[in-house]
Amino acid sequence: MPDVVTMDKIVSLARRRGFVFPSSEIYGGLGSAYDYGHYGVLLKDNVKARWLEAMVRERDDIVALDSSIILHPRVWEVSGHVEGFHDPLVDCRTCKLRFRADHLDEAQCGRKPSKRPGETEDCDLTEPRHFNLMFKTRIGAMEETGVDAYLRPETAQGIFVNFKNVAQIARRKPPFGIAQVGKAFRNEITPGNFIFRTLEFEQMEMEFFVPPAEAEEWFRYWVDERFRWYTRFGIRESHLRVRPHEADELSHYSSQTSDIEYLYPIGWSELEGIAHRGDYDLSAHTAGSGTKLEWVDGEERYTPHVVEPAAGVNRSMLAFMVDAYDEEEVAGRQRTVLRLHPGLAPVKVAVLPLIPRNEDMTTKARALYEDLRRAVVAEYDDSGQIGRRYRRQDEIGTPWALTVDEQTLEDDTVTIRDRDSLAQERIPIAGARALILDKLAQDWTTPKVD
Ligand code: GAP
Repeated sequence: MPDVVTMDKIVSLARRRGFVFPSSEIYGGLGSAYDYGHYGVLLKDNVKARWLEAMVRERDDIVALDSSIILHPRVWEVSGHVEGFHDPLVDCRTCKLRFRADHLDEAQCGRKPSKRPGETEDCDLTEPRHFNLMFKTRIGAMEETGVDAYLRPETAQGIFVNFKNVAQIARRKPPFGIAQVGKAFRNEITPGNFIFRTLEFEQMEMEFFVPPAEAEEWFRYWVDERFRWYTRFGIRESHLRVRPHEADELSHYSSQTSDIEYLYPIGWSELEGIAHRGDYDLSAHTAGSGTKLEWVDGEERYTPHVVEPAAGVNRSMLAFMVDAYDEEEVAGRQRTVLRLHPGLAPVKVAVLPLIPRNEDMTTKARALYEDLRRAVVAEYDDSGQIGRRYRRQDEIGTPWALTVDEQTLEDDTVTIRDRDSLAQERIPIAGARALILDKLAQDWTTPKVD
């Protein structure tokens, strides 16, 4: 069956159910900036939690870090970002729009009949100029005495400048990694495609420090490992691919990069990059700061090489939503459902009294909900027709719904409805919490077929 999902459907669902809103909407919105509502926050938090689990909790060789967003301005000079972190841009003197010189074939000209910038004689493009992507800010109360600083465009540099602190205190020997989740900022000028490309976003980055001779092997290991993480959390393998970078697309710090790409409705696009950064960063900061960032153990002394899997939280969230989106007809009615991995679903279980006016039912349902919410994110809903309540939960991706009905009042059982198969089963209320926890601990594969 062809995929029914489009970017418009995702944007509309995200808005309708309160996952994502355009930022500053009452002032007309701000291009490439979005705000996350209740379910968006829960989903985004789950993406980060599953990443941290896989990278830190389930491993012995990676530790966590949370560094500042504003670092010493020298960090960005020494890292090469002031000099090298830019996009080549061209301006059109006719339509006054600005385009990425390397993405002209995807851009839309401001004037008709030209479709692509440069396509007709009317287009009057400047030569490409470099435009730095870092947002500048100023530290200090006074304009005259303040110091220029930058909002970090990647979380990675906070890890490199802490290499010595962490290596000493965590008592780790290469190969070992430092993982960080946090905000990054880029002054992007190309249209964002919803939350795919925004000015402000979150990254999940891990710098893996290895003996130089092992770097190539670890690079391959991390490409495979990260690919598996996406399939483990439900993305269809047919919608993922690994694309090695051509020499002319490599970042200034990288000698080898492979992107994990996802087949978004906008086409194959980067979800995560795995880069072989060599000793670029540790050597640069050693030279720039005078502090030796190397591994010393007795006679052994070397600058570790770095393999970096760098993922975007927001782009992952978008990919998980797109891949989970489904529509089907059930008993003559259309339903939209997010078939999210239960570990990612914002709400794990909904508790619904069948007849909201029946006080015995609502009391029982409320008590069950109070019990469940101590263990997982649960929701209680007693407003409207049961069918509409199910559909609401389907659209936010809640994997299970427990319904309290007449029989519950007689024998303390409830029905459990499965979001994907729609199968309903009766279970004792007393075992409900354990059953949900047990289901959450199980492996899961998406019921969606290509
Ligand atoms: N430290 C390496 C680094 O920052 P990157 O490929 O530029 O590498 C890593 O960024 C990931 O961050 C990307 O794969 C993407 O998921 C996410 N990302 C980058 N720029 C973004 C933006 N403007 N909006 C949303 N996500 C972005």
